[in-house]
Amino acid sequence: MSDPLLEVDGLTVQYETNEGMLTATSNASFTIEDGEFFGLAGESGSGKSTLAKAIVGGLDDNGQITSGEIRYRGEEIQNLSDSELSERIRWKDISWIPQGAMSSLDPLQRVSEQALEIGHVHTDLTDEELREKLKETFDIVGLQESRIDDYPHQFSGGMQQRAIIALALFLDPELVIADEPTTALDVIMQDQIFKHLDRLKEELDVSLLLITHDISVIFESCDSVAIMHASQIAERGATEAVHANPRHPYAFMFKEAFPDIREPKRDLEVIEGHPPELMGEVDFCSFADRCPWAAPECREGAPPSEPVDGDASHVAACVRSDEAYELYRSEASSRTEGGGGQAISQMGEVD
Ligand SMILES: Nc1ncnc2c1ncn2[C@@H]1O[C@H](COP(=O)(O)OP(=O)(O)OP(=O)(O)O)[C@@H](O)[C@H]1O
Ligand SMILES: [Mg+2]
Repeated sequence: MSDPLLEVDGLTVQYETNEGMLTATSNASFTIEDGEFFGLAGESGSGKSTLAKAIVGGLDDNGQITSGEIRYRGEEIQNLSDSELSERIRWKDISWIPQGAMSSLDPLQRVSEQALEIGHVHTDLTDEELREKLKETFDIVGLQESRIDDYPHQFSGGMQQRAIIALALFLDPELVIADEPTTALDVIMQDQIFKHLDRLKEELDVSLLLITHDISVIFESCDSVAIMHASQIAERGATEAVHANPRHPYAFMFKEAFPDIREPKRDLEVIEGHPPELMGEVDFCSFADRCPWAAPECREGAPPSEPVDGDASHVAACVRSDEAYELYRSEASSRTEGGGGQAISQMGEVD
């Protein structure tokens, strides 16, 4: 069997700060296969962008990988220098749309000029060949081919974002890492972009690591999902499995904090508090202080990721994963019954 496209294995990333070493990613593991759309979700500050930056060698100067491996087609890449990564991996193999990339287009250059610059650094293709490639990807993301020579200001916000996605795609990378690609856009523009992501899947054999705090987007467009809380991956697996049978309290509470077209009537969950900033080794469950079902052992070691119902591709890192969801459902239904009773008595009073 050939090596997976990307393997992240036990990855820990820390930032040096005035208060000490801040752990942004702790022992994170996942795999992305050819053609797979993989979604990474979690609240602000959970470590999603840090993971993406570690993969492409784009960590801030005070950040470092302190343990774990990143393998691209079986080759360890976590120790490659910036120039090796840039020469060999970035753009051609893995292209990265950083968070906040809306402002990354140079306002003084036509989009085609920016594409040619990137193309000349990373390929031997001629201007004409590069322009053809850019036109093809413009078409795939729903922009008119004739507009490759426009300046960024001639595009709307959603079109600029699609132009950035086209630039990330036009050198035929194997993996695109898109960090919050639609967060700054309104819902209609977000929809337009995700409609085009589907086309990406059908027409290019590309894999996607989609990072967002909005898990409903991932449930609609990704094959697999990982849900992260304060440096740790709480749960990951096939999207259908995690959607239908979530086991980590953070995963199911986070999932239920968003509207879901499959369950339009349910109340939205509210998770109290915020993810903590963690200094040093994270040898406990980072969700324990916010978890209604936390037990003493949640603080006695980082819970290992265990298969859910014997399915090794769906894992949850919770010592109470066998019972927490049941407890949550039964508590939720008793709340609803209580609420329902109240509604009936109120209606009685109106009558
Ligand atoms: N250069 C840095 N120096 C110190 N701490 C940092 C640095 N970059 C990020 N952090 C911290 O690392 C943690 C994870 O940050 P990261 O940006 O990876 O989160 P995120 O999940 O992408 O959040 P968001 O959804 O807001 O983009 C946070 O506590 C953040 O404050
Ligand atoms: Mg981020």
